[in-house]
Amino acid sequence: MSSKIVVLISGGGTNLQAIIDACADNNYPAEVVGVISNKEDVYGLTRAQNADIANLALSHKAFDSREDYDQALIKKIDAFDADLIVLAGFMRILTPDFVQHYQGKLLNIHPSLLPKYQGLNTHQRAIDAGDDVHGVSVHFVTEELDGGPVILQAKVPVFEGDNSDDLAARVHEQEHRIYPLVVKWFAEKRLNMQGDNAVLDGNVLPISGYAAD
Ligand code: GAR
Repeated sequence: MSSKIVVLISGGGTNLQAIIDACADNNYPAEVVGVISNKEDVYGLTRAQNADIANLALSHKAFDSREDYDQALIKKIDAFDADLIVLAGFMRILTPDFVQHYQGKLLNIHPSLLPKYQGLNTHQRAIDAGDDVHGVSVHFVTEELDGGPVILQAKVPVFEGDNSDDLAARVHEQEHRIYPLVVKWFAEKRLNMQGDNAVLDGNVLPISGYAAD
């Protein structure tokens, strides 16, 4: 039976699209059953609609506190009875209650080689630091912002003269490769979180995830 995924977005949803495309293959062990955005009118919701996937916007602006919003979000997510929650450009800081509710079944993609550059503006920060390698990480979500155990990273070169858009585009290409792969591992039950570790095929993954090089 295929695993049910809910994808949370805040924007254009190219990672959502990569996962939807992967799910279109009959051999892929997961399906997207719902897409939720905290912003209305984003293109990611149109992508869900085009793929006949249930979707909704739950605007954080209608709530007084982060706690209230996250509780409402939990209700919407749980209505889909999902096995896995995938954050794909969901630009919200999550409350501890939310994270605990989905402990071990909450994935995020972050555009840096964690633990480098947690938070925002990662591409510009890599350029400003003079890095010649940058990249992306998929990790389990814990209460520490962008701090949960890394599952898989992909690296990209930083070329002289790159601006942050150039680098973002290069990173995006890799994101679309690695996120569907990690979701597949999870759906195949090869991947889980044990304590503070990501475990793949019974092996605790190192700090930079599977096969970093
Ligand atoms: C992606 O680059 C993702 O890594 C980033 O948002 C972008 C969403 O793009 N996520 C974060 O910065 C989370 N802190 P998309 O909407 O085209 O998938």
